[in-house]
Amino acid sequence: MKFDVVTFGSAVVDVFVNTDVAEKRNLIAYPIGEKILIKDLKFDIGGGGTNTAVAFSRLGLKTGCICKVGKDEQGRSILKLLKKEKIKFLGKEGEGKTGYSIILDSKEKNRTILTYKGVNDKISLKDIKKFKTKWLYLSSLLGKSLESQKRLVYLLKKRGVKIAFNPSSYLIKKENLQRILKLTDILILNKEEAKMLTKKRENLLENLYELIAEEGIGIITDKNRKIEAYDGKKKYSLKPNKIKVVERTGAGDAFAAGFVAGQIVGKSIEESLSLGLRESESVIRYFGAKNNLLRIKLK
Ligand SMILES: Nc1ncnc2c1ncn2[C@@H]1O[C@H](COP(=O)(O)OP(=O)(O)OP(=O)(O)O)[C@@H](O)[C@H]1O
Ligand SMILES: [Mg+2]
Repeated sequence: MKFDVVTFGSAVVDVFVNTDVAEKRNLIAYPIGEKILIKDLKFDIGGGGTNTAVAFSRLGLKTGCICKVGKDEQGRSILKLLKKEKIKFLGKEGEGKTGYSIILDSKEKNRTILTYKGVNDKISLKDIKKFKTKWLYLSSLLGKSLESQKRLVYLLKKRGVKIAFNPSSYLIKKENLQRILKLTDILILNKEEAKMLTKKRENLLENLYELIAEEGIGIITDKNRKIEAYDGKKKYSLKPNKIKVVERTGAGDAFAAGFVAGQIVGKSIEESLSLGLRESESVIRYFGAKNNLLRIKLK
């Protein structure tokens, strides 16, 4: 079987901790020695690898997911979710602990995330089952896993596989991504990440475009402000709608997966941007990174 898309990224258990603690000067601060009541506690499965795999699969694409989990309760719940969502697990259940994120939501609906990477950083090429795909979608991983992502891209690119990449700020800051970017067909970043990567404050789209594969597409999102895209010929933009933000974890993943899915099935850039926008808005209106992802069959 040939997949439409294989995602390669993290798989974690997310716990959402909603405390009603108000923000003060850019901080969500918990006073020492106090016991703070949790208003609401929710568990969910997250991580860029599984979030985007669920988005793709629900859009009717044949989807595989390369991720790593430990042999623990959390790992089992992740594997169960992939099965339920009809996603083929192409990674490994190995020694070590499954990744875990604690999302501390403020009264104002912003959040601080404490994240434990666990086995997410330890994916070797040996851990990956054999597969065929049209597209490979990469989200941020570090350490050995990043090395494996790079090597897999070099291997697959030679076989004509297309690459989508959504690196986050910690990756851009720490790693040299030049080579992998040159092989990237669709690069999706938020504005801060785009500034960091291009080391520029203006003409971000043009500068981004120079870093990616020929005939690639660069996209910059900016929260509730205009989304911009550039394919070397034309600039596109789309303004997000005013919506009530319930919980914004997963917005970036949802947008990116929606856009890439549109491109996989041959939609135009405009149509793909709208699909990304719809996905992200759907996720923001609800708790959790993937609960409300769209169920529409693109093919
Ligand atoms: N407050 C908002 N109102 C409406 N839409 C939003 C809002 N925040 C995010 N979005 C939607 O989600 C998309 C991605 O959001 P953003 O630019 O914050 O990405 P991100 O920083 O990569 O997110 P993440 O933290 O999930 O990785 C936006 O382009 C927009 O479509
Ligand atoms: Mg992001």
